[in-house]
Amino acid sequence: MESKPFLHCRQLSKRYTVEQQTFKAVAQVELQVQAGEFITILGHSGSGKTTLLSLIGGLTSADQGEVVLSGVNPWQGNDREISAIRNRQIGFIFQFASLISTLTALENVLLPLSFACGSSEGLAGNQGLGGGQGRQKAIQLLEQVGLGDKLRCYPGQLSGGQQRRVAIARAFITEPRLILADEPTGDLDEATEAEILAFFRTKNQEGTTFVVVTHNRELYRSQPGARVFQMKNGALAEELEPR
Ligand SMILES: Nc1ncnc2c1ncn2[C@@H]1O[C@H](COP(=O)(O)OP(=O)(O)OP(=O)(O)O)[C@@H](O)[C@H]1O
Ligand SMILES: [Mg+2]
Repeated sequence: MESKPFLHCRQLSKRYTVEQQTFKAVAQVELQVQAGEFITILGHSGSGKTTLLSLIGGLTSADQGEVVLSGVNPWQGNDREISAIRNRQIGFIFQFASLISTLTALENVLLPLSFACGSSEGLAGNQGLGGGQGRQKAIQLLEQVGLGDKLRCYPGQLSGGQQRRVAIARAFITEPRLILADEPTGDLDEATEAEILAFFRTKNQEGTTFVVVTHNRELYRSQPGARVFQMKNGALAEELEPR
């Protein structure tokens, strides 16, 4: 028998109303993901991909259906519990880079640790902003995305693709079990994109589960073990045909 899914989207739906017109941005999406899988979602602009990732990550609430992560709906608790899950278990790579302009690349990568640590350890904790272990991990992540020489640069001193890579490194700093990535390599050149994908593969082999939205069908399809889905008008369907 198939083991219980790590992530289960149960008939997830999200409606938006604009100028008295209501439409379903996400329509009864049913998705079961086993731990360690690499899920790729393709689809035209406006088909609901970002909305679906936001529902999975608890950034948007569903109208119908629910998200089940490791057997529980993580988005039913109080704000504190929800923040804790979001900060520790899920790494977000947003569609648009979202770095703090007054922090260096290294500090941006370290930032989620200061939330994940909680107030008792705070910024001075070993895993926190000032802590040695967290710092080593952040440096290693920046090296892995090819930015070992840009640790002390501010976002304004980095190219768009470099900022994007800082945001990618940041998503991994808390060692989340699930990465939600929204066109993570959309603005990177081919060679850099392939390097980032190799980095994702390493993390995937270490056990991290991925749900990735992309337009680069061929590259992501070649990811070992990838399951590819198509989103169309809010509905999700698995592509079962081989290339
Ligand atoms: N906050 C919102 N209010 C109203 N409509 C919204 C909102 N967010 C998204 N939408 C609409 O929902 C639909 C799906 O949007 P979504 O951002 O999920 O698409 P997408 O597949 O990620 O597109 P893209 O590839 O362009 O990023 C779009 O028609 C969009 O206009
Ligand atoms: Mg989008």
